[in-house]
Amino acid sequence: MKIDRLKITNYRNLEDLEIEPNSGLNLIFGPNGSGKTNFCEAIHFVSTGDNIKGSRQRELINWDSNYALVRMGLLNVEEIVVYLEEGEGKEIKINSKSGRQSDLRSLVPTHTFVPEDLYISKGPPRRRRSLLNRHLSQLSSGYGHLLSDYNAELKKKNTLLKKDEINEEFLEVLSERLIELGARITGERADYLKKLNQYLPEIYGQFVQTDEKLNLSYTEDGLIDRSQEELEELLSDRLERNREKELDRGTSVVGPHRDKFEYLLDGRDLRTFGSQGELRTAVIATYLAYLELYEKKFNELPILVLDDILSELDRARGEAFLENLPEAPQIFMTTATRSPSFRKLSGEFTVLKIQDGVIERQ
Ligand SMILES: Nc1ncnc2c1ncn2[C@@H]1O[C@H](COP(=O)(O)OP(=O)(O)OP(=O)(O)O)[C@@H](O)[C@H]1O
Ligand SMILES: [Mg+2]
Repeated sequence: MKIDRLKITNYRNLEDLEIEPNSGLNLIFGPNGSGKTNFCEAIHFVSTGDNIKGSRQRELINWDSNYALVRMGLLNVEEIVVYLEEGEGKEIKINSKSGRQSDLRSLVPTHTFVPEDLYISKGPPRRRRSLLNRHLSQLSSGYGHLLSDYNAELKKKNTLLKKDEINEEFLEVLSERLIELGARITGERADYLKKLNQYLPEIYGQFVQTDEKLNLSYTEDGLIDRSQEELEELLSDRLERNREKELDRGTSVVGPHRDKFEYLLDGRDLRTFGSQGELRTAVIATYLAYLELYEKKFNELPILVLDDILSELDRARGEAFLENLPEAPQIFMTTATRSPSFRKLSGEFTVLKIQDGVIERQ
């Protein structure tokens, strides 16, 4: 799948932009504040229906306008349009017919990487959890459904726990459902980590000269290679032990929504011992490992949107990244400076220059 036409109207500072991207690598240069991130966001928006930062819809519309429009033409889909009007929900059209957000994901598999992603290894556990959720949801739609079912039940339980009078029977029903769904989520995450860790050490080694092995692991031991039954039992025990605490705090404190993951380098927690560069490289290695798994599963890579990654890496690692760029069907990569690392790029690519929201081919 490749994007062969892209037209952006009033999306943030991109008032009127139209390009026919290269079917391989597209490099977008531009100074700070020129619209590079907005450009990446717009591609993400039209291919997933989501906005990356979770900003309010009004913020996505150009300040001087009351609507925003992103149109995309693909090789075998004539046109996808996502339209946003002030005060209205977004509208999706696929070949002039109304479409749903879930249709987009399968039509235009796209994966976006933003600079903040590089801090996932360092930040709070929630960020690593959401990285795993993101990857797993892209790899299996079943996981996405599982997660939303779990979250819906969790919300009910949290509402119940906040009440003065608690209906014990209902609490029991919800807990059982959460144990079942929760164990399945944990099982899927554990399987994914196991597969990911088959690639991580080698990929990491391409960036950092080291014999030390990088792994992404559950902080809690003993969750890998467990049956659904065993995981349910573990979760049920933990729930039982924390029952009073949950009632006390009026919120659920155990379950996969609190799962913790850590990067280990030869068993040492990278978050405590790793340098900034090592921490960022760990995320890049995870990303590349995920793409290997993605390709194995779907026999094709997603379109990649890479916003300003090179500026976060030193020269050697930037070069290693470019050398290891996956053979994605199409890549959009932005950067503020023409890095010397670009000499490492082989094959055909298009250079686009962006300035004050206006883009032109170089
Ligand atoms: N709704 C909007 N309407 C008009 N302009 C906006 C809107 N939202 C954001 N902008 C502007 O878009 C400009 C470009 O932002 P963007 O984040 O894309 O820049 P960038 O090229 O990625 O810069 P950097 O190199 O610093 O990351 C900003 O100056 C911002 O003020
Ligand atoms: Mg930016």
